[in-house]
Amino acid sequence: MTARRSGPLKGSLRAPGDKSISHRALILGALARGVTQVEGLLEGEDVKRSAQAMIAFGATVERLGEGRWRVEGRGAFQEPTDVIDCGNAGTGVRLIMGAAAGFHLSATFTGDASLRGRPMNRVLKPLGEMGATWLCREGGRLPLTLHGGNLKRISYELPEPSAQVKSAVLLAGLHAEGGAEVIEPEATRDHTERMLRAFGAQVDVFEEGSGRRIVLPGGQKLTGTSVRVPGDPSSAAFPLVAALITPGSEVTVEGMLLNPLRIGLLETLGDMGADLSVTNVRDEGGETVADVTARYSSLVGVEVPPERAPSMIDEYPILAVAAAFAEGPTVMRGIGELRVKESDRIALMAAGLAACGVAVEEESEGLTVFGGSGANHGVKGAARVTTHGDHRIAMSHLILGLAAAEPVVVDEPAMIATSFPGFVALMRSLGAEIDAA
Ligand code: S3P
Repeated sequence: MTARRSGPLKGSLRAPGDKSISHRALILGALARGVTQVEGLLEGEDVKRSAQAMIAFGATVERLGEGRWRVEGRGAFQEPTDVIDCGNAGTGVRLIMGAAAGFHLSATFTGDASLRGRPMNRVLKPLGEMGATWLCREGGRLPLTLHGGNLKRISYELPEPSAQVKSAVLLAGLHAEGGAEVIEPEATRDHTERMLRAFGAQVDVFEEGSGRRIVLPGGQKLTGTSVRVPGDPSSAAFPLVAALITPGSEVTVEGMLLNPLRIGLLETLGDMGADLSVTNVRDEGGETVADVTARYSSLVGVEVPPERAPSMIDEYPILAVAAAFAEGPTVMRGIGELRVKESDRIALMAAGLAACGVAVEEESEGLTVFGGSGANHGVKGAARVTTHGDHRIAMSHLILGLAAAEPVVVDEPAMIATSFPGFVALMRSLGAEIDAA
């Protein structure tokens, strides 16, 4: 897929459904007793894998129409008769392992080459303390067979800020004697806590400094409900940054989730001088959503506060692109977690930007991007970028190509459907020159 220097981007679009909330809607729907109706579900590859997995664990999952799904849970998981393949989805596999650990069953999980390379010890450690056992490859890698049941209560302090690990422990806690407690030194996205409540569970959250203590009392039952999935801020980030860096642009993303634990990128872009406006703020199904408009802006480099990382962890690749079109350096630190995402995102952004003529400095847990000045901010483009099958690395470099002097080519564009099916068509509808040439 090739992205070329484009004229002004103009128009409005709806961001696809939030990936985090979509996974959770399917998993909680399957754990609950009764029917859950979901609207606005993200129909990306990752989420479709979770839907398949929930069927394998005994739930009925049906697609009623675009984004409209019906899940009927049995209040318990059954033992699957085959291997669960979670594809590229770290959130899918980690949350489902947590949910499955609460039941007397064995389940074998695998995924694509990227997921098989990612660390699962971070969820296996607390699940093991609760009483689950497993057999897996070296270093806690998939494929992995988990044996669940007879779990006991845990009070677990997260060693790294991770909503996935927090959620795995809480979901396991649903079927542990005495429930579960999670202490997070830095607050991470709270969709699991919010949704557990929507399904009728009691979840007590205590603010403790910059972090939180989350208590899930034992013996709780979930009841099916309806879930409206808001637009994904991590997907909205791509058209918004495209507008900020492409001269003359004005783009509106409608219905974007504004959960305070997900909007670190908007704060950072605001610090960089981005012309962003938030209108039509409303409540949708217990979450705040709004329409966000971005206009072409003169950006300046900033130092991103490391404590902001959990609220924008998936947005650093596209922030690095915005930084390439900003005056002066943008310093990103405290982002070591980026090295264990779908790819090593620090290494791939550093390599991709450097190939496009951008000066970068890579650190073990950081990345500095030196924005240039003058025409195209000195971003040459004219590169073929290796994405290692990472959807966000692919989209980031395609956006960069819209404002670079020469075209940018990315390999494996099909992986974009992991989180943002229809990305290319939507960007083209705004005037972006992206094609298969
Ligand atoms: C997610 C949490 C984050 C994020 C991922 C989605 C979630 O991962 O990167 O895309 O839905 O809980 P970590 O919890 O591992 O940081």
